[in-house]
Amino acid sequence: MRRLRQSPQMRRLVRETDLLADRLIYPLFVTHGKDVYKEVGSMPGCYQMSINNLVKEARSVLELGLAGILLFGIPAEKDEVGSGAYDEEGIIQMALAALKEEVPDLIVATDVCLCEYTSHGHCGIVRDGDVDNDLTVEMLAKMALSHAEAGADIVAPSDMMDGRVAAIRSALDNEGFASTPIMSYAAKYASAFYGPFREAAESSPEFGDRRTYQIDPPNSDEAVRECLLDIEEGADIIMVKPALPYLDIVYRIKQETKFPLAAYNVSGEFSMVKAAAAKGWLDEKQAVLEALTSIRRAGADIIITYHAKEAAGWLRE
Ligand code: PBG
Repeated sequence: MRRLRQSPQMRRLVRETDLLADRLIYPLFVTHGKDVYKEVGSMPGCYQMSINNLVKEARSVLELGLAGILLFGIPAEKDEVGSGAYDEEGIIQMALAALKEEVPDLIVATDVCLCEYTSHGHCGIVRDGDVDNDLTVEMLAKMALSHAEAGADIVAPSDMMDGRVAAIRSALDNEGFASTPIMSYAAKYASAFYGPFREAAESSPEFGDRRTYQIDPPNSDEAVRECLLDIEEGADIIMVKPALPYLDIVYRIKQETKFPLAAYNVSGEFSMVKAAAAKGWLDEKQAVLEALTSIRRAGADIIITYHAKEAAGWLRE
């Protein structure tokens, strides 16, 4: 076996998996104000930024050859029903207008979920102590439509309500957005690895947790069912999230669906590597490229990662 491992050139010749910048999506957090560039404590190198800085960041993402960005909004005010989510003057809607004006060629996907917009931090409308599915689905369809109207290239529902893909698809189709794709967070687990993100997006639930809507980590058949349902309802791209602790799910979903598949290398996966690298416990560049390659090897076509910009730089070296 060692004959084909003897030099970098020989190893490249027989390499089975490629990792290219144009497979990577970079998540960004946009907030109100001007010239804001505020580092997220738990995610070194990630920032909440105002629209003017977001536009600059978007240019550099395009320049680096990344696939696109995934946008999360931090509204000025939150309320019980998350009305900032579908406000025409909302943070995402205004960010989209600026991005489409200044950097029209960059693919902008938007996160569709109420958790950043609700005062209680849950992903939907709370009734009797739990998130009400059908009320929430109505709001999500409204939110997705308002993103499409503002210029979103892809809408990405991450809430895990039942039936939301069908509702979003029909809202988009009825209003003239038949060509806007849906990337659904189809197999999203109730994971501890979202911890750092909740600081970045200011979206921690004030009571309880997300276990009544996100998938229970020990389950795998259930993830397949979730994906098949979303495909039936009209999803164009499905997603598994988190990525590294769920590579078996990534592999299985790709094998069973053959659908365009994204994997979300989430905040906790990112912050663990950053923390270890800061202590000098591992080589960040090698660890990140190895982890991203293994997500591709498992079967993901697209990887959403906070390391996207750094990875694109390393891949150019
Ligand atoms: C919103 C949402 C979350 C993430 C993406 N969209 C948080 C959650 O469900 O608690 C997590 C992203 C990450 O950890 O990087 N529902």
